[in-house]
Amino acid sequence: MELDFWIERWDNGRIGFHQDKLNPYLAYFYGEKGPTLSLREKLKIFVPLCGKSKDMLWLSQNGYSVFAVECSKTAVVDFFEENALNYKHVEKDQIALFQTTDQNSLIEIVQGDFFAIEKKDLAGVTDIFDRASLIALPENIRSRYVDKMTELQDSGIRTLLVTLTYDPTEMNGPPFSLLEKDVHDLYSEHFSIEKLCTKDVLSEETGLKNRGLTALTETVYKLIRQ
Ligand SMILES: C[S@@+](CC[C@H](N)C(=O)[O-])C[C@H]1O[C@@H](n2cnc3c(N)ncnc32)[C@H](O)[C@@H]1O
Repeated sequence: MELDFWIERWDNGRIGFHQDKLNPYLAYFYGEKGPTLSLREKLKIFVPLCGKSKDMLWLSQNGYSVFAVECSKTAVVDFFEENALNYKHVEKDQIALFQTTDQNSLIEIVQGDFFAIEKKDLAGVTDIFDRASLIALPENIRSRYVDKMTELQDSGIRTLLVTLTYDPTEMNGPPFSLLEKDVHDLYSEHFSIEKLCTKDVLSEETGLKNRGLTALTETVYKLIRQ
């Protein structure tokens, strides 16, 4: 799946994948179950393939700093403008970086290809939130994504990974289905894997139900880079 596919979808408003509300797992594991407010200022969350996700706004409003990457300039600009955040656009080491300029908000989004990100760009990152990022990619790109993630991370970095599982004969992705076995095959060499919860989400995901799904579960994992 090429970048042009996504850029065209953003530019033509075909963004059914965008969630306009906060992800409940993020709110739970990084909110009420998460670190205290005083610890959060030391935590920097990387959001790969971020779109214009409201999760970034919530993270910054709840004491975390955010570093993210998104290929679509439309998505990045919409994120800042729809959330009434002041921002500046700088070119740093030949990458386009959009940064909040409000005092209480630390959000940096690289507008470009995730696969071009380098380890030095993730300096200070402690945690990763992967919702609709791994599962946005078809099977033939998945292991390249995980290899890149492995290369980018220092040992100890935690990832909250949200996946979907459905019968792939019922619907073509994105989002793509992942089994628990797929997650283990992809990550177990370099990450510890803990399954945190699984939920039947068919009735909530009416868009996916309308595309033909008769069963759909969401599973959340905590990964730690070894
Ligand atoms: C399914 S959306 C998920 C967006 C976001 N994570 C959310 O939860 O709403 C996938 C996003 O990844 C972006 N994307 C896809 N491939 C990319 C790449 N190689 N580098 C950067 N962004 C990419 C797309 O433009 C799209 O916004």
